[in-house]
Amino acid sequence: MSLHALEAEWKAYETLGIDGAYVDELPLPFSVQGAVMMRKQAQFHPLHYVKTLVDLAVKHGASFYEQTVAQHIETATRPIVQTKNGSTITCDTVIICTHFPFFDPSFYFARLHAERSYVIAVEAHERLQGMYLSANEPKRSLRYAVLNNRPLLLIGGESHKVGQGTNMMQHYEALQSFCNHTFGLSNVLYRWSAQDLVTLDHLPYIGPVRASHPNVLVATGYRKWGMTTSTVAAHLLTDLTLQKENSYAHLFTPSRFIAHPSLQNFVTEGIDVAKHFLTGKLEYALRTPRHISKGEGAVVNVNGKRAGAYRDEQGTLYVVDTTCTHMGCELEWNNSERSWDCPCHGSRFCFTGKVLEGPAIEPLQRIEGDV
Ligand code: FES
Repeated sequence: MSLHALEAEWKAYETLGIDGAYVDELPLPFSVQGAVMMRKQAQFHPLHYVKTLVDLAVKHGASFYEQTVAQHIETATRPIVQTKNGSTITCDTVIICTHFPFFDPSFYFARLHAERSYVIAVEAHERLQGMYLSANEPKRSLRYAVLNNRPLLLIGGESHKVGQGTNMMQHYEALQSFCNHTFGLSNVLYRWSAQDLVTLDHLPYIGPVRASHPNVLVATGYRKWGMTTSTVAAHLLTDLTLQKENSYAHLFTPSRFIAHPSLQNFVTEGIDVAKHFLTGKLEYALRTPRHISKGEGAVVNVNGKRAGAYRDEQGTLYVVDTTCTHMGCELEWNNSERSWDCPCHGSRFCFTGKVLEGPAIEPLQRIEGDV
């Protein structure tokens, strides 16, 4: 982002009446050309936040059914949700908040892509004042946390499309090196990565899953801003369910893509998917499962066909067919999460083949026997 773009963002703050300021100094160990500051921001623990919401919902009569996988919806005046174990639930309104919508009558798979990003938590000497997001590339976000009275610095960044690249550990290394170089801190206590979906125009899809299904609603594509945009979604979905007017309905409606200029992105996403579909099929692996060491995973050749192998620390070998069970793209190994990730729409599978994240529903085929 250029300084000009930053100034334009500040102008937008002024127009919208956001309480903030344009500054050229920050309490950080490096200088900046400019920064837009937002006052009265809140930082809170996501799990404590969600737990409080769940407790409140239960107190008001809501019920939660964990481990109940919804697989399909029969649309009608009263839609019927079908679950994986064969049960059905008939209701007035269904709201799909499953990251990738498990029910896709409107080509969401071509209008969303999955991105992964990384965070490290480093032991710090003092608590960071404020939260920061860099405007330039490579993007870095800075936050604090306190664990057992010890201040931690959280550094995030290194976003990329899911299933691209082979060495995911390099992203943690890049954050570590930035931390060391900028703050002189090196004691990394925790690290993790997250995956979320991005829409064609970067605004979430919130509203009817399809214009002809007003009682099946969806909320997805938060672009890793779920703590805030899920709150927007909650307000909007409540109004849509109660058939009340909401001035944001038009802005977030999932059907907006048809007339949006980001149709260009629509084509690009499609080409990207086709590329991964084809190059994955043509790729020829030289290694066989026998070449895989303990703790290692890789694409291998099994009887002339592409497959995926992972050998655990005890020496047990897991070989799977790397064809994604969603729409047939070829999966790539993620060495930091030890999972098989799909570059097309972001499905993820455990090394055993089990689905970790949709849109895929079915597990990978296991290849047993003498490989
Ligand atoms: S997630 Fe769609 S092909 Fe893999």
